[in-house]
Amino acid sequence: MTGKLFHITTMGCQMNVYDSEQMERLLAAMDMQPTSDPRRADIVLVNTCSIREKPEHKVYSHLGRLLCLKRKKPGLIIAVGGCVAQQEGRRLLKRAPHVDIVFGPAAISRLPGLIRRTKEEGVRLVDVDGSAVDAFEVIPAEFQQGRATAFVTVMTGCDNYCTYCVVPYVRGREVSRRPERILKEVERLVDTGVQEVTLLGQNVNSYGLKNGCGIDFSGLLEAVNKLDGLKRIRFTTSHPKDLSDGLIRAFGELEKLAPHIHLPVQSGSDRILKRMNRRYTRDSYLKKITALRQVRRDLAVTSDIIVGFPGEEMADFDDTVGLVESVGFDNIFAFKYSDRQNVAAARFPDKVDESGKKERLARVLEIQSAITLKKNKGLEGTTQEVLVEGLSKTGDAQMTGHTPCNKTVNFLNFSQKGVRVGQIVPVHIVEGLSHSLLGMPKSFWEERFGKKGGILHAA
Ligand code: SAH
Ligand code: SF4
Ligand code: F3S
Repeated sequence: MTGKLFHITTMGCQMNVYDSEQMERLLAAMDMQPTSDPRRADIVLVNTCSIREKPEHKVYSHLGRLLCLKRKKPGLIIAVGGCVAQQEGRRLLKRAPHVDIVFGPAAISRLPGLIRRTKEEGVRLVDVDGSAVDAFEVIPAEFQQGRATAFVTVMTGCDNYCTYCVVPYVRGREVSRRPERILKEVERLVDTGVQEVTLLGQNVNSYGLKNGCGIDFSGLLEAVNKLDGLKRIRFTTSHPKDLSDGLIRAFGELEKLAPHIHLPVQSGSDRILKRMNRRYTRDSYLKKITALRQVRRDLAVTSDIIVGFPGEEMADFDDTVGLVESVGFDNIFAFKYSDRQNVAAARFPDKVDESGKKERLARVLEIQSAITLKKNKGLEGTTQEVLVEGLSKTGDAQMTGHTPCNKTVNFLNFSQKGVRVGQIVPVHIVEGLSHSLLGMPKSFWEERFGKKGGILHAA
């Protein structure tokens, strides 16, 4: 496949981002090169998500566009991976006759073989065998240089079976990676310039509990915290039911652990939490938040909310709104409940109609927007340590990065020396906006405007 070009489109969560990087490395090892233009590619890969109806629709509309490309270039290989691939398997080949390969998340290491066979034998292939759980360990480790941040998957799958969720069906059983493999990978990333890693799993709090890794998640964090050269550690996602005292303590003890936790609550109503099979109560969730804030006063907390779960009445929704208001999250991701294949909730009665879900979503988002904006405004005039990740999407010669609490900061970089990707720069926050903060390097701010305030409008 020497000299051939490939293009990958990644949908879905950070796990898919990590998986797409694995695919990239595998194809690079076949002497293929990435291209950002799918029209130039000899092989187009789509890494898909089926968490809700909307992302799944996106897959089919994307495949529709690829049909035009294939008509112009009949030799093009189209490979569909990820969670829709795993869910649909052979059905996807039927539904999209221009697709050549369907491969699930556990088949990534077999991708080179699938591509070769398709190319040489002209066959269409499906590999959704979920048993090769250790798949990602065999991948050649050619790491990209010059990035400030990276994801590292520490476990795959999920055994929680929340009644709305497709993940246990598409990602299989929970399996933790060996700690030594994880540490080696983080070390190699640090060698390429990475300053911050985010440890990934659907429920990192149950890391190591099932397949005997010798340590639990707080133990893993402790070990990663010891690695030289690494500046920040993040992780996602935590399940509230498994948030241990050890992990709470880690926030007070590990200096590299960033003060941010994403702790999806889903609902503020005990009745709905029970129907969701979340296995915690509103009260136990709130107690955990209090305990976390006791060990780390500056901790940022974000969450996921589902509105309009089957059987959710106005009183339940009001409980969710009340919880959002009383916790004061730094931000939330809120979703309308969406029926998924195989999941228990799809068969639950008392579905909330679309307009009801829409209204509830708008209401909870409006309440949270006001909270987020207030919090961001509260940071005006402070100095934040920003890990520089690259040029801002907003253009105008702005750089972008994140604070320890995971707030996005765009800052004007007209200092003489300029700042580089991977540097941690003190940034003076000039303005708190609804989705980000606007600032300028502290040194530049002090040079120009002294240490006095009142310059807000000049920025
Ligand atoms: N493992 C994570 C969640 C991963 S899925 C956890 O347990 O917290 C990301 C988010 O998508 C979930 O937190 C939930 O809020 C949302 N989600 C999952 N399935 C959904 C569905 N069927 N309808 C609407 N939202 C859903
Ligand atoms: Fe889905 Fe629940 Fe597992 Fe999260 S913990 S991935 S919501 S089943
Ligand atoms: Fe989507 Fe699969 Fe992630 S369903 S959210 S890409 S695990």
